[in-house]
Amino acid sequence: MTLFLEILPDLDELIKLSLTLILERIENALVRQGLPYFSIALAGGNTPKPLYEALAKENLPWDKIQVFWGDERYVPNEHPDSNQRMARLSWLDLVEIPSANIHPIPTNSNSPSEDAQKYEQELKAFFQVNLPSFDLILLGMGDDGHTASLFPYTSALNENDKLVTVGNKGSDPRITLTYPIINESKCVMFLVTGKNKQTALSHIFADEAEEQQYPSRGIKPKGELWWLLDESAGRYLKK
Ligand code: 6PG
Repeated sequence: MTLFLEILPDLDELIKLSLTLILERIENALVRQGLPYFSIALAGGNTPKPLYEALAKENLPWDKIQVFWGDERYVPNEHPDSNQRMARLSWLDLVEIPSANIHPIPTNSNSPSEDAQKYEQELKAFFQVNLPSFDLILLGMGDDGHTASLFPYTSALNENDKLVTVGNKGSDPRITLTYPIINESKCVMFLVTGKNKQTALSHIFADEAEEQQYPSRGIKPKGELWWLLDESAGRYLKK
């Protein structure tokens, strides 16, 4: 794993850097390496929305971009809380990306565990391997140090056999990628802003801390790990 920590003056600068880094990785995969596609798993929440809006303005080979999600709230895909809905409205509905390239997490079976299994099957069928390696996984981090839907002290943190499992935000079920598949990624990029994230970040970057209490500590990808923070979030971190 190669760790990169960048602390930017504000959200605009953070989004600009994240966009630059993403475009570089897309070009490297598709042009320099001549790979058939670039696979990206999206983060939910609020922070990545301006990044998705910026990506919507880019002229990319959309037929070679394969879009997945790192987690999903267990709501219908038209629900205001849906991560899929946010990404479609801010980006995917605005570009000529084939619908077959968009792989949302299903939330319409009889149970979250059934949908988690379905998504795992979709990942294995698409990548044709048992442990896929995403080109890029975007992640946010909650005030409590959770990421994707890997929440503190939940069973999802201990899931080392499945690629997709049920996460729980209190009593709300979510579907989430697990540590094994996230850590198999070529590049993981955290986008974190705001002073509410300072405390969790101080524990995540500390020499010692309880991983079950700060799940983002468990993100150790085989490739690159980028932490893109704004000044507020990264105030107490030394570069
Ligand atoms: C979600 C996300 C979650 C999010 C963090 C940060 O479904 O909500 O996957 O992990 O990234 O909670 O959210 P903000 O970007 O809104 O602070």
